[in-house]
Amino acid sequence: MTGLSDFLTQLDDLVSEAQSAFDAAADSAELEDSRVAFLGAKSGRLKSVQKGMGSVVGSDKPAAGKRLNEVKQQIQNAFDGAQTRLVAGTLSIGQQPAVDHSVPGRRPSLGHLHPVTQTIEELMDIMGRLGFTPADGPEIEDEWHNFEALNIPREHPARDPLDNFYLNVAHQTAESSLLLRSQTSTVQIRVMEKTPPPIRIISLGRVYRPDTADATHYPMFHQMEGLLVDRQVTMADLKSVLRIFATSYLGDEVHVRFRPSFFPFTEPSVEADYHWNDAWVEFGGAGMVDPNVLRAVGYDPEEVTGFAFGLGVERLCMRRHNITDIRELYKNDVRFLEQF
Ligand code: DAH
Repeated sequence: MTGLSDFLTQLDDLVSEAQSAFDAAADSAELEDSRVAFLGAKSGRLKSVQKGMGSVVGSDKPAAGKRLNEVKQQIQNAFDGAQTRLVAGTLSIGQQPAVDHSVPGRRPSLGHLHPVTQTIEELMDIMGRLGFTPADGPEIEDEWHNFEALNIPREHPARDPLDNFYLNVAHQTAESSLLLRSQTSTVQIRVMEKTPPPIRIISLGRVYRPDTADATHYPMFHQMEGLLVDRQVTMADLKSVLRIFATSYLGDEVHVRFRPSFFPFTEPSVEADYHWNDAWVEFGGAGMVDPNVLRAVGYDPEEVTGFAFGLGVERLCMRRHNITDIRELYKNDVRFLEQF
């Protein structure tokens, strides 16, 4: 025969066992398992302890029943409390807070400059050390600055509407139409119109040509334009500046060669190549400023001479980073750009 005190002891033990089982539950599935184990209607622990009521003597039954109801409520409360804490995310094994302050935080991903911008800054730096000051001009230009003053007359094929982004259709008749500049040589004219010699400027910016995009062409790209005008400037000055530039950017071992060429705004004109991967790669055009250009801006070609050059920025950037397709630079794919 189980006495009342045995029965009450079993009830007390049950409360504390249920309490620790609920507290130990790491997630709601474990908590549910414990709930079934203690409060399950068919074979829960409470149910089996309850059966002990039968062995309590009649006069003790009311006290036993009262205590049983309290214990049911206590276990239910313990379950509710555990559930609330789990939902709030504050309960984990051993009552540790669920937020672990020792876990490393999430690093914010910092951006960086686009590889072309990095190249531009480096080129400005190199040319700055050679005494060239930055200059700028508009990307929407008139025909005077893009062609006429650069000794490119109206009938010249470089002015063909198919080879330029004209902004108005009156290009054949209008005195001067507007277009997206096709070269940074425009800045030479803008600077010389405003400033008397001597001049020593560098200009880095975008140019536009209606080329179909492929591995080496893009309808927008960047050029670095240099201009130096002074007394007694010679071709030797041009060649040394370009050589110093090439070794500063590409390294001391680079080979540079100059090929005779033609540009309307320089006479004589050259193209400058560097040697890479068993091949000669053109990095830009250059030459002595044509006297017609000096006259167009009001300079006296008997007094001053000058040299100019225009280089492709993307090419230099691609060579530096071993990029083989110019389009990669402008897809805005962060996975690609992150590498540089
Ligand atoms: N403007 C030329 C081009 O876009 C490049 C160039 C050649 C610039 C010779 C110059 C120069 O200043 O002297 O192809």
